[in-house]
Order: sequence, then structure tokens, then C-alpha cells
Amino acid sequence: MEQGKFITFEGPDGSGKTTVSTAVVTRLKEEGRQVLLTREPGGSRIAEEIRDIILNPTNTEMDARTEALLYAAQRRQHLVEIVLPALAHGINVISDRFVDSSLAYQGCGRELGMEEVMAINQFAIEGHMPCRTIFLDIPAELGLERIHRERAVLDRLDQEDLAFHKKVFKGYQEVIQKYLERMIIIDASRSREEVIEDSYQAVKGVLDGTR
Ligand code: TMP
Repeated sequence: MEQGKFITFEGPDGSGKTTVSTAVVTRLKEEGRQVLLTREPGGSRIAEEIRDIILNPTNTEMDARTEALLYAAQRRQHLVEIVLPALAHGINVISDRFVDSSLAYQGCGRELGMEEVMAINQFAIEGHMPCRTIFLDIPAELGLERIHRERAVLDRLDQEDLAFHKKVFKGYQEVIQKYLERMIIIDASRSREEVIEDSYQAVKGVLDGTR
């Protein structure tokens, strides 16, 4: 059986990844395609429990390396329990965030260094990387403005200040340069409809082997 394709959505907080990936997958499923939408942190029972620990706003004493290890731990569980079995059954997997988030947020945002963060993640993912990544590009200021406007409750990372989110943004620029061949960059500062349409065309192209 042919393996499914593994595609990720990435971008800063407030870039609209969750809304956009949900709309894209709904449309692909309506066309009869085999697609599974999942997310990180989370995506499986254990990984969702780890998500709750990481994002709990009362966990203010969490050390940056602990945070990086917990992200890598939930990733391992999500990968082996959900992503790899689906791909082996020929199902295409679309994940709202994956390892690039750790490189940008922990590597650059928390200043742990991308190479060190990649090293602990290699232990978790054993070389399994997405074939393509849809990057929803939005400046840190605009992303933060959106989450403060749209979200009733802010998680522990959302609550970080603009300086942190600017470092994350810079981190993503480095990630894009490092993995340019798998990146599809979409301007997410436009209307939701435009971003959804471009993302849908991009993912469809990847599934059809034209992108
Ligand atoms: P979400 O808002 O996309 O569900 O993600 C929750 C937060 O977790 C978001 O602020 C980004 C952050 N995050 C990391 O810092 N490192 C990671 O590896 C992942 C997957 C997410």
C-alpha cells in the first residue's frame, strides 16, 4: 500500500492555523480524500495530558528545558501512536504544528539554541519529518493582537510578551531558510477566505504531487 503524505501547518500564535487547517481538511474530506487532521501539542490521549501540563497558566515555574523535553515527549507519543500508523495505512496526515514549532519557540523564543532543540527532537522523531510545511506568515504584533481579541482564555505561551513572540518570529525565519525546499509560505495577514483558499490549493497540490 502506498504511504500517506505527512504535511504540517506552522506559524506564530494568531496566524489562524487551526481555523485554516480545519477548513482545508473539511474540504478535502468532502472530495473523498483520505485525510487525518491532528495537532501538537496533543493529538493522542497521553500527548493531550502533556499539553495540559505545558500550557497550564499556573505552571509559571516551569524550566525552559523541561518545557522543551515535554514538547519532545508529547511529539514522540503522538508520532508513534497516531501519525505513523495512519501514514502506513495510506492516510494523509495534516498536523497543526510539529517539530518546527519547537525550533522556533524553544530554540529561539526560549533561547535554548536550535541545534540543541533539534538534537532532543531527533531522539523523539527518529528522522520522521513532514514532506511539506504550510507556513502561515504573520508579523508577531498582528498575531498577538488577534489572540488578545479572539481568545477568552490565554494559555501559558500566549501570555508571553511581545519580545518573546518577536524571537519566535525570528526563529521561524531561520527555520524557513534552513528547510526552504519543504516550505510553502502563505501571507496570513489577509482575509481568512483568501488564506484558506491558498492553503487548500497548496495542500491539494502536495497530495496530487504537483507541488
Ligand atoms: P496552539 O496554540 O497552536 O495549540 O499551540 C500551543 C502553544 O504551544 C503555542 O503557543 C505554541 C507552543 N508550542 C511550542 O512552544 N513548542 C512546540 O513544539 C509546539 C508544538 C507548540
